[in-house]
Amino acid sequence: MRAAKIHPIKQNGRGAREGNLVNAREGLVNPRIFVDPEIYRQEQERIFTRTWLYVAHESEIPQSGDFVTRTMGEDGVIVARGTDGKVRVFLNACRHRGMPVCREDMGKTSSFMCGYHGWRFSISGELIGVPFFEGYQGKLDKESLGLHQAPCVDSYHGLIFANWDPDGETLSDYLGEMRWTLDLLFGRTEALEVVGPPMRWTVDTNWKLPAANFGGDGTHLFTTHGFRWDLGLEGKQPGRRAGYRMITPNGHTASLSGFLDGDLCLALPKELRPEMESRLTREQLEMMKSLLIIVGNVFPNMSFLNSGQHTPGEWGGAEGEAVSFLTLRQWQPRGPDRMEVWSWCFVDKNASAQWKEASRQCYLRIFGMAGVFEQDDMENWVEISRALRGPVASRLWLQYKLGLGSVSHEPRPVPALRSLEHSGFSEESERAFYSHWEKLITQA
Ligand code: FES
Ligand code: FE
Repeated sequence: MRAAKIHPIKQNGRGAREGNLVNAREGLVNPRIFVDPEIYRQEQERIFTRTWLYVAHESEIPQSGDFVTRTMGEDGVIVARGTDGKVRVFLNACRHRGMPVCREDMGKTSSFMCGYHGWRFSISGELIGVPFFEGYQGKLDKESLGLHQAPCVDSYHGLIFANWDPDGETLSDYLGEMRWTLDLLFGRTEALEVVGPPMRWTVDTNWKLPAANFGGDGTHLFTTHGFRWDLGLEGKQPGRRAGYRMITPNGHTASLSGFLDGDLCLALPKELRPEMESRLTREQLEMMKSLLIIVGNVFPNMSFLNSGQHTPGEWGGAEGEAVSFLTLRQWQPRGPDRMEVWSWCFVDKNASAQWKEASRQCYLRIFGMAGVFEQDDMENWVEISRALRGPVASRLWLQYKLGLGSVSHEPRPVPALRSLEHSGFSEESERAFYSHWEKLITQA
């Protein structure tokens, strides 16, 4: 079967133009971007080898010799802390014949030995052992055959990212104003820590559907997760709704919401307030007071969700205490219609043991692998992928028009953050995500 070209699409709907995969100005997305194998291959080349990708949290590899195995797109990598304390990211492929040199999810070691012919690499990546080395008679240059290393590795609030592109921007510039939101999640207290290894499971859908959803799909709540209203679990609203949207030039998107005039701070325990007050700016603290939920996506595939429950005690916290959870997840591409979900639960290191356990329970019940919201969402994305495989379905443009042309409000306190007080629901974040995706995938 001939692979489809990346650009061609016939005009099948009003406003759609030949050659567009995404038409953000008119709120249209070509369904083939979710199913076409050639587009998928281009994504791997042009997005997953050129952008900063999340690979691990510092708390997962605190000591020299600690490592975890992860993926950057389809490429398997080892994230290891060397004897010098430095974190390096290696392609998990032996330089002899390409066999993964590390088959474990995590561990501690001083070297990695390939299980095929026994080449050995140090924790810093050098090739330090080759069986039958004399037989190469000087023709094997061990110095140049260390594990292939990502040239750019950096971290922000303990979140370690890597980038294969040596000419790209710094991590700080790449994250841009999304750092302001990440401060509220990962920089609010002395440190956050990962609770156990990530949950991992495979889902038959395209990675972009959840990434865009987490960036700002607010309207699906009332139908997809409508059981909360049907069963009367929503409780009484404690005030006027507060809502903010963040969209950055690099395709990072977030939605921050809660209630004005509140003292909510994401339903975090009160004893963490002094830490927050010393670490966050006045504007960040002010906004934190009105927030119960922060959800978003760091382009391309790292999403986060901090959700507070304003019904006291509902999720197993102490009597009269609200509970929240923080999850970070990656939508790891494994084909046009397949992904692996990697989901971590985070807690503030200085919270009480009781609160940490309540937060973990809250995560498990709502957004763990079998959590109620997680199940609701996955059903949608699996069914969309199944439906779009059909030749007729794949010709009909998908609609992302909500809020098109709405008046933009004064940004505050950083340019990428806007209040939604007057504009209400919108698909602006999804348009921004797909627009940036198209920009990258059509660049040579
Ligand atoms: Fe690794 Fe041969 S493939 S030693
Ligand atoms: Fe959802």
